Formats: sequence, structure tokens, C-alpha cells
Amino acid sequence: MSVGVLGTGHYVPPKVVTNKDLEQIVDTSDEWIRSRTGIEERRIADDDTDTSDMSFFAAQNALDEANVKPEDIDLILVATVTPDTPFPSVSCMLQDRLGARKAAAMDISAACSGFMYGMVTAKQFIDTGVYKNVLVIGVEKLSKITDWSDRNTCVLFGDGAGAAVLGEVAEGKGILSFELGADGSGGKELYQDENDHLQMNGREVFKFAVRQMPESSVNVIEKIGYNEADVDYLIPHQANIRIMEAARERLGISKDKMADSVKRYGNNSSASIPIALSEAVKDGNIKDNDLIVLVGFGGGLTWGAIALKWGK
Ligand code: COA
Repeated sequence: MSVGVLGTGHYVPPKVVTNKDLEQIVDTSDEWIRSRTGIEERRIADDDTDTSDMSFFAAQNALDEANVKPEDIDLILVATVTPDTPFPSVSCMLQDRLGARKAAAMDISAACSGFMYGMVTAKQFIDTGVYKNVLVIGVEKLSKITDWSDRNTCVLFGDGAGAAVLGEVAEGKGILSFELGADGSGGKELYQDENDHLQMNGREVFKFAVRQMPESSVNVIEKIGYNEADVDYLIPHQANIRIMEAARERLGISKDKMADSVKRYGNNSSASIPIALSEAVKDGNIKDNDLIVLVGFGGGLTWGAIALKWGK
């Protein structure tokens, strides 16, 4: 059984907040943010749009593209650290709103690696023949846990949602290999504090990311007997262009073969990889039979990578 992507979708809120806008709120500059992170602007959801709303819009887009009806979804997995409420889960809210009557539903908490964990979990259920269609979402409304007075963090993040419908694809296509990992001893480097604000030790997270992203990218392609030159497209977690570049340079691929939405959206945590994947599909940057590497890292600490042969 080969398990792959039947359709992708995404949603970003319309409100754009530029680096210049942030200069009005904290002591920062457009130049500092661009040169240290590659971010130029980000999208911020309004008060009436919560995590479940964004996941619904992205899900509709992915189901349309996959040509799968809500009533044919067997399982909904929503990766998020910013749910509307701890329970009911975002996945249950989404199940109701989509009318996905027979779907089981649960949320996954693996921070920015959440979509990688979701895809790998979906693959297991489909591989075993238990389920046919699994909807996987990465969605965050990070603006609600952002400390807007902390220049170390508030310039980095944005809101949005990405989705993929996973199911059986032709032999030799789909998810060829994966790697998931965690190091709970690094939990103190990136966490939500008692005031519900995101806290981060930027330098430590940076060091971890520039080591882990290149290593995991290479591991998933070596596992299947391919080498770096075989990679057609890289979709790294969109956290910081300098971290993304470390992965790209390790694979030795050209800039046009790497998704780069961080400049427009900032870091959307678990939503960044599925948004970038959905955009790459819609922009025609991914062709049938392309070998794609998806790779992410995040709070936990956690990480994950997938080698994916594109096509159904
Ligand atoms: N504007 C201006 N100055 C800022 C700033 C901002 N928005 N944010 C921090 N600074 C200042 C700090 O106060 C510090 O000043 P100091 O040295 O006087 O204390 C200095 O800039 C920080 O310098 P440094 O730590 O060397 O910056 P950096 O090049 O490491 O970049 C990050 C900082 C946060 C961009 C970088 O560490 C990073 O990207 N880390 C990983 C973050 C990440 O990916 N998190 C999400 C994980 S999913």
C-alpha cells in the first residue's frame, strides 16, 4: 500500500501586518527583522476568526482539490498548539462543521512539527487498511499567545492554516520514508508561560534547528537509497530564512527548489509546511513524480521529516 496526498489546501487571514507596522509597537526595525529572519510581513486573524474557522477554510480547499466528500473522511487530525479551547478539540469542531459524520477526530500537540506528526500518523491508519481517507490539518492562531510587547518573539509569528487529504496512491508514489523525533530536555527553550505567552530562547532554538533540519532531511532520503541530488523540491518549516538555507545548502539544491513563504507569512508553526505545500502545488512548482522533502522542527523539542514522491 502506498500512502500519499490526494489534495492540499490553505487559508491565511486577509489582514497584513508589515515590519513597519511593528516598528510602531516595539523597538525594532524593518532592517533588523528582514536581515535576521527573512520576514517582511505576516497575516493576523481578526477577533472573530479562531483556529477552527481557519482550519475549516483550509479543509474545504483540500477536500475540493482531492475530490473527497466530507462524509467519506475516516479520520481528522488537527495539529495545533493554539486550539479554540483545550476541549472540545479543534478536530471535533471541524468534524461537525464539515459534516464529516463518520470521521474520528483528535488534535495533535507537537508544536511546529505537528503537521509532520499528523501525516505520519495518518499514514499508519491507511497502511493498515483501517481507514481510507484522512484529513490532516496544521493550523495556528499564534497571535493570541503572542506577547505584543516582546520584540524577541512578536516579530516572528503569524496566523494561518494548511490541510492535506491523505489516501492510497499508485505504487512507488506517496510517503517513501519518514523520521520523527523528540528531546523533552529542550522543553524550556520554547514554551507557553503562566500568562499564556509564548517564550523562546532564540539562540538555543536556532542552534538546534540548523543542526536538526539538515540532518533529518538527509536521513529521510538516505533511508530510501536516494541522494541529495535527487531532491526536486524542499519544503522546510518556515521559521527563519537562515535556518531554511542551512537545510537547502546541506542538500546542495538551488534556491528555486525551496519553498519560501516566510517572507510573506512569518512563522505559522504547524501550519507553515502545509501552507507552503499547498501554494507549491497551486503555483505549479511541484510536478508528478518529483521527490519532495518536508522537514520541520519546533517546541518540545520535536522534529520530523518526510520524503514524498509526488502524484496519485
Ligand atoms: N528588533 C531589534 N532587535 C532585536 C529584536 C527585534 N525584533 N529581537 C531581538 N533583538 C535584539 C535582542 O535584544 C538582542 O540584543 P542584545 O544582544 O543587546 O541583547 C539581539 O537583538 C539578539 O541578537 P541575536 O540573538 O544574535 O539575534 P539572532 O541573529 O540570533 O536572531 C532570532 C534572533 C530570534 C531571529 C534567531 O535566534 C532565531 O531565529 N532563532 C530561532 C527562532 C525560531 O525559529 N523559533 C521558532 C521555532 S519553531
